[in-house]
Amino acid sequence: MRLIIVSNRLPITIDRSNKSGFKRSIGGLVTGILSYINKIKSGVSEFEDYLWIGWAGKSIIESEQEAIKREYKENYKYVPIFLDEKVQKGFYEEYCNKVIWPLFHYFQDFADYKKSSWDCYKQANVIFYNTIKEQIKKDDFIWIHDYHLMLLPQMIRNDFPNVKISFFLHIPFPSYDIFRLLPLENQQAILNGLLGADVIGVHTIDYAQEFQKTISKVLNFKAVQNIINLGDRFSKIDIFPMGIDYKAIKEISISEACSQKKKITKERLKNYKIILSVDRLDYTKGIINRLEAYYNLLLEYPEWIEKVILKLVIAPSRREIDSYKKVKRAIDECVGKINGRFSSDNWIPVEYQYSQLNLVELCALYGISDVGLVTPLRDGMNLMAKEFIAANSPDQGVLILSETAGAVNELFDAISINPFSVDEITSAIHKALTMSKKEIQLRNERMHLRLSSYDVSSWANEIIQTTQEVNSSKVSLLKI
Ligand code: F6P
Repeated sequence: MRLIIVSNRLPITIDRSNKSGFKRSIGGLVTGILSYINKIKSGVSEFEDYLWIGWAGKSIIESEQEAIKREYKENYKYVPIFLDEKVQKGFYEEYCNKVIWPLFHYFQDFADYKKSSWDCYKQANVIFYNTIKEQIKKDDFIWIHDYHLMLLPQMIRNDFPNVKISFFLHIPFPSYDIFRLLPLENQQAILNGLLGADVIGVHTIDYAQEFQKTISKVLNFKAVQNIINLGDRFSKIDIFPMGIDYKAIKEISISEACSQKKKITKERLKNYKIILSVDRLDYTKGIINRLEAYYNLLLEYPEWIEKVILKLVIAPSRREIDSYKKVKRAIDECVGKINGRFSSDNWIPVEYQYSQLNLVELCALYGISDVGLVTPLRDGMNLMAKEFIAANSPDQGVLILSETAGAVNELFDAISINPFSVDEITSAIHKALTMSKKEIQLRNERMHLRLSSYDVSSWANEIIQTTQEVNSSKVSLLKI
């Protein structure tokens, strides 16, 4: 059996400013699926082979496309999708990132709907479909990812009624009151599009419940025990909290390269407690509130002055979008405010890095930090929180985690906070910095257990197994 993965972006996209001509994509989706592909490659998965179909990340003139296709195929098993500039802008920048992304994260004021961008979204989904159609072979298993491709399952289903299709949403599914802000035609098309999948997977029970409520309101379909009877087939909504590659993170953390990095940074910062904050640049991540909380910590608990450092790492993302430019400026100002107010001859309170780190660099930072500060205003899951725990031994590292991040449902031993309350974050930081080793160990052991027993392979295997089962036992399901 072959696994066809379909996502908006390929794990590496074209970047002519880079020597290799490509750059690594960021985000939990790519990290997680790449880990699963490693399992396929090493023969510990039920798939014998795989193919990844996704956008090349840049518009390329037609005469150059063949060469790029060959490069992707020969070096990786990737099939690039090319979108012209107009479609790319309307689809990715406008509909995906200025309509769906803000709405699904409850930032309705940031949403900017245009009929033309919806047309581009439909068009891009058709372009993806046309490429998939050329690749599909009998017995392929198709796994579609994320909000960019919500119309795709039904498009495939119309022409391939028996193929196995799984869809996974990596971001929250919002409440019906938010979803209904989309024009009705969009609502219906998105939901019908998703229902083409055998399984629609989400990270948490809340997202699953909101989805069921929404399909009942918009399409009048009732789910019974998570299953929707569509007449000739079924679609199941199920909960699969995405895991990390716990073993790989552990291995990287103790590798020579990582240990070296840890040693150097630890030596440089040996006089300080380290608070770590790592994110893709996004207004949903709550970075400003986090910085305000750190500012307040230094004001309210002056005993931490010259005793603590905030290591702030932000990976550039979606730079062409105004709301992202704006949040970047706000972060720069806030860092300036803190460093301007509190710096001394031998101490800078915020060490700020605006760059994309690799996993070795990240694990080195996780491993030397006393506190992991993960305070998104809304987040589908947040794998950084999980990686932070995994990269440390149980007696090291206190995790502060938003109650609005999907990960909190598994990591309930973290200090959970309301990310909109700066005061709560401030108190949580102080609590984390003064927590006893015994309490840290007690909390972290339980989180390690969870993360090691339900990792990215368990997540993928469960999704695949559930998808295989739906519609294969029609007789018993029809009784529902
Ligand atoms: O996690 C949500 C997501 O949109 C992923 O699909 C993607 O990998 C990541 O964020 C990065 O976003 P973008 O592809 O827009 O840079």
